[in-house]
Parts: sequence; structure tokens; C-alpha cells
Amino acid sequence: MIALSSDHAGFLLKEEIKAFLESRGIEYTDCGAYSTDSVDYPYQAKKACDLVVSGKCEKAILCCGTGIGISIAANKVKGIRAACCTDYFSAKYTRLHNDANALCLGARVIGPGSALELVDVFLNTPFEGGRHQRRVDQITEIENSL
Ligand code: RB5
Repeated sequence: MIALSSDHAGFLLKEEIKAFLESRGIEYTDCGAYSTDSVDYPYQAKKACDLVVSGKCEKAILCCGTGIGISIAANKVKGIRAACCTDYFSAKYTRLHNDANALCLGARVIGPGSALELVDVFLNTPFEGGRHQRRVDQITEIENSL
């Protein structure tokens, strides 16, 4: 189960991602936005990230205008490792090396074609573990010390 969320700026991209997930038979929970009416991205990030940390969803895909605001907010949720990606390599390696559990996309930055390729590689790339596990554990350690 994938948690999807956006603000108004990311709404149309989120709808494209929904159609993509449906075409692949991947289940999702849509946390909104439900239209292009203005809605603030921090709480939109939290809604989807809460589903990930509670274990109800495996990963989150979050869209706003730049992908940046929603990623900053997502990374404030304990247990979330959110990556704002605009290129294929980053979307792949944030899974391999960072075990990222939230992908953030900027609807005003990249087109839907690129965005869907990033979603695809993000969802289908496993975490590599090994030396990278130690580093992810260090991130968790820092988070737990706050
Ligand atoms: C909304 O206008 C815009 O600020 C938001 O979608 C996002 O780009 C913030 O980082």
C-alpha cells in the first residue's frame, strides 16, 4: 500500500501517479489534495507519512510545486526518510543507499513522464543494506536524540 499526498500545486501530478499505480495493480491511499483548491503542504505531508510510520503503508509519494516544501515537512516526521528527486539516478540511489521511504516530486519542476519513471524506479528498487544500514542507523540515532 502506497500513501499518496499533495498540495494544490501537486494535485494533478498526484492524479497521474494514481492512474499509473492503478495500471500496475498497486494499491494506494489518497490523502488528498482532492482538487486544485489551495491546501498547505506540511499537513499534507504528515497525513501520508503517519501512514508509513504506523506501518499501514509501505512508502509515501508526495507532490507539491517544487517537491521541496513537502520533503522538508516529511522529514520532520520521526521514521521518515524523504527524498526530493528530479532525476532517475537519485530516485534509484535514495532507495539503494538511504532506504528512503518517501519520494517527493515537484509538479512545477518535472513533467509527468519523468515523474512516473522516478515513481517506478523508487518503488522497484530494494535497499542495499550492508554499510548503508549503518548510516541509516546513524540517521535514526540522531533522530532519537532530538
Ligand atoms: C505552493 O504555492 C508552493 O509553495 C508549494 O507547492 C511548494 O512548492 C512548496 O515548497
